[in-house]
Amino acid sequence: MSDDSGLDEMLDGFWPYRKTTESFRKVPAEPVERALILREIAEMAHKEDAQGDTGTVSGSLYCGDHDHYGFLGEVFNLFSHANVLQRDMYPSATKFEAEIIAMTSDLLHGTGVGVVTSGGSESLITALYSYREHARETRGVTRPNVVMPQTAHVALDKGAHWMGIEVRHAPLTEAYVADVDAMAALIDDQTIALVGSAANYAHGLIDPIEEIAALAKSHGIGMHVDGCLGGWLLPWVEKLGYAVPLWDFRVPGVTSISADTHKYGYALKGSSVLLYRSKDLRKNQYFTYPDWPGGLYLSPGLAGSRSGGIIASTYAAILATGESGYLAAADGIMKTATTITEGIRTQVPELEVIGDPTFLVAFKSVGDLDIYLVNDSLKDQGWRMNALQLPPALHFCITRPNTQDGTAERFIEALKLAVTYAQDKQGEPAKSGAMYGFGGTPQGNATLEVVMAGVLDAMHEVAPDSPAA
Ligand SMILES: Cc1ncc(COP(=O)(O)O)c(C=O)c1O
Repeated sequence: MSDDSGLDEMLDGFWPYRKTTESFRKVPAEPVERALILREIAEMAHKEDAQGDTGTVSGSLYCGDHDHYGFLGEVFNLFSHANVLQRDMYPSATKFEAEIIAMTSDLLHGTGVGVVTSGGSESLITALYSYREHARETRGVTRPNVVMPQTAHVALDKGAHWMGIEVRHAPLTEAYVADVDAMAALIDDQTIALVGSAANYAHGLIDPIEEIAALAKSHGIGMHVDGCLGGWLLPWVEKLGYAVPLWDFRVPGVTSISADTHKYGYALKGSSVLLYRSKDLRKNQYFTYPDWPGGLYLSPGLAGSRSGGIIASTYAAILATGESGYLAAADGIMKTATTITEGIRTQVPELEVIGDPTFLVAFKSVGDLDIYLVNDSLKDQGWRMNALQLPPALHFCITRPNTQDGTAERFIEALKLAVTYAQDKQGEPAKSGAMYGFGGTPQGNATLEVVMAGVLDAMHEVAPDSPAA
């Protein structure tokens, strides 16, 4: 392959429409016909949804039921244009939001205190902010740090980076969960909070929340549980009788939890709930400013204007699924996850399941087999896994589209073929790597951050060489 064709392939991967659609670099002089716009966007949507609908994709699409999406779209439409900042005009937003919080809190045995945010990252970063402010006000902390296991979600690192909070990463135990002794050793008088996950993104494992919470309590600090991924699933899994360790507000010392409605709550993308044990902690994220010429300003969180569509459709998603719907979904997810876990353990000796998973199965190679070569073959066979690093591994986060009949069994067969492929290609460089949100990534170390920044730049640029409109 020449250098040019490699570049071409990369550009096509990034901007697949660059040769087939016009690119707008300025506002069109005259309106483009709606039917045309709709047709082009619908084509993209159908094309891009196709793989997820086959049930071969890890995570990402949690529901997969297009009837449900259609219904949520209808509800969204009713309020898509509404700015819920204007509560005198749109008081229904108060009803929807308060009831989303109440239902989430009930599920997680909370106290009914919370906020609705735009997603997991916002929930995590907002929690971090509340702990920082609380520690500053109550203990005079000026050099804040947060102690969390290496597997805590990276959005916390992002938030800490933005807010000048030092992150102290604790190593994991051999079971790949937080090492609580190591966390204890990292705490000092500037520590604002401890964090654990239920379950974590990388390996789908639940940290020893009771122990971490007890540690936090003994130091008089708070503990956030990242339940962004598991928050709307684990309660149903527990109700079904699976062994789930206590991780929610039933654990004394847990002072906040994030739980994403836009994941296993089956809501549209753009919603999550951040629960606090006390209003005292929540008030830290409130902002009020009485002296602005624009008026008395009050805001509960990061966002200013927000669409009523997402709040109304999240509310509708919960109601339209109901307890029986969530239980049925959790049942299918757990059966699929169990078949996959057991399949790897008993039929694929070259691979090892990481820890003791529930709904998300991470696996790595036992010997020197290159797991990214395994991923290359899985990709070629139409499966989209999430690739991990440190150690190199893959994970399959089971969602409703994966519960279609025979999917788990087909996956195990694909995995066996992929292992054979990796054995054959051993020593050759793999095409895929471990970039969050992408199937493949360049390898290397020193230049990696530069390349990653370049990718972010590229994500905000119009496709090069595409025909202008
Ligand atoms: C455990 C966990 N926390 C936080 C997040 C971040 O959520 P979001 O992508 O909604 O910002 C994720 C995303 O997958 C997650 O798995």
